[in-house]
Amino acid sequence: MTTERIVSGEERPEDEDRSLALRPRTLADYDVGQRELVDNLSLSIEAAKRRKEPLEHVLFDGPPGLGKTTLAHIIANEMAVDITTTSGPALERPGDLVGILTNLKHGDVLFIDEAHRLSNVIEEYLYPAMEDFHIDFIVDKGPYAKTIKLPLQRFTIVGATTRAGLLTPPLRERFGIFHHLDFYTPEQLELIVQRSASMLGVRIDSGGGVEIARRARGTPRVANRLLRRARDYAEVKGDGNITRRAADAALNGLGVDKEGLDPQDRKYLRTIIEYYAGGPVGVEAVAATLNQEVDTLTDVVEPFLLKIGFVTRTRAGRCATSRAYEHLSLAPPRATEQPALPLDEDA
Ligand SMILES: Nc1ncnc2c1ncn2[C@@H]1O[C@H](COP(=O)(O)OP(=O)(O)O)[C@@H](O)[C@H]1O
Ligand SMILES: [Mg+2]
Repeated sequence: MTTERIVSGEERPEDEDRSLALRPRTLADYDVGQRELVDNLSLSIEAAKRRKEPLEHVLFDGPPGLGKTTLAHIIANEMAVDITTTSGPALERPGDLVGILTNLKHGDVLFIDEAHRLSNVIEEYLYPAMEDFHIDFIVDKGPYAKTIKLPLQRFTIVGATTRAGLLTPPLRERFGIFHHLDFYTPEQLELIVQRSASMLGVRIDSGGGVEIARRARGTPRVANRLLRRARDYAEVKGDGNITRRAADAALNGLGVDKEGLDPQDRKYLRTIIEYYAGGPVGVEAVAATLNQEVDTLTDVVEPFLLKIGFVTRTRAGRCATSRAYEHLSLAPPRATEQPALPLDEDA
């Protein structure tokens, strides 16, 4: 199960309480990685503030745990407005949406998480709301049905999605600002780990920070989680100080390897390699073999493996690269082996 993975970028109950405190509140605090995004977003915010206008609708796309929700709160904070949060699956009936929209004040932020999971009906209501700030609410049925046009305050929708490709084009087009979040580098994560450690009052040396950062899958949420687990380990088995050694032992104990892969990642790679000769294989087949949801593989497992070049995605399906074989200490198949030395002319 994905929810049990220590290196999952997805939110787990244990993250909730303390990560709120760890969440950067301003763009300046957030300014570790996502450089281009931060620069562009701060420009948009500054311009909107000067014009005394609400910010345009913003869409954030990227794997779980990289900071989309954090950015939504930062936007509200920087614009000095209130934020209401909801999500695609939570908005079931048009009435729910109408209730939320009519309560928004001028400039307020409505954060819609998992925007790719909005139903068609809800989307239809959102179009005029996002474009002209009104909703067409249909009351009664049949011959007595009439449409009431409800005006709304000008507000800002901040949408977050792990799959921008699944958003319908009309919805996607209504976001004036679009940003893709990419994985953080180990160096950037190291800064985040040190910042979190000082906020949590955890003792960690630079070796410990490097080790956690390197094994956190480019994901701040994972880095913070590994930090807490390493602290537990250091407190129980050591002197409370997270050294490289303590971090290494703690993470090994959790099944997180040198590249930050956990048993599920390795199983995914082994499936492609051992059942499907390294690929190409369709993701559906891999999911069926692993007894996993396709969405879990594409949204949570694959992005990082693609990023570090352990798998490639081709038209014909997924392929394990020679780096993946190497990492698992498996012999690569003939096709990906180095070409043999050229034959001697006279041989
Ligand atoms: N740039 C950043 N600097 C420091 N911490 C960050 C940064 N981005 C994200 N985080 C941390 O990672 C955690 C996950 O971020 P979140 O916004 O919930 O991710 P997402 O919504 O994309 O899944 C947050 O609790 C926050 O502490
Ligand atoms: Mg989120």
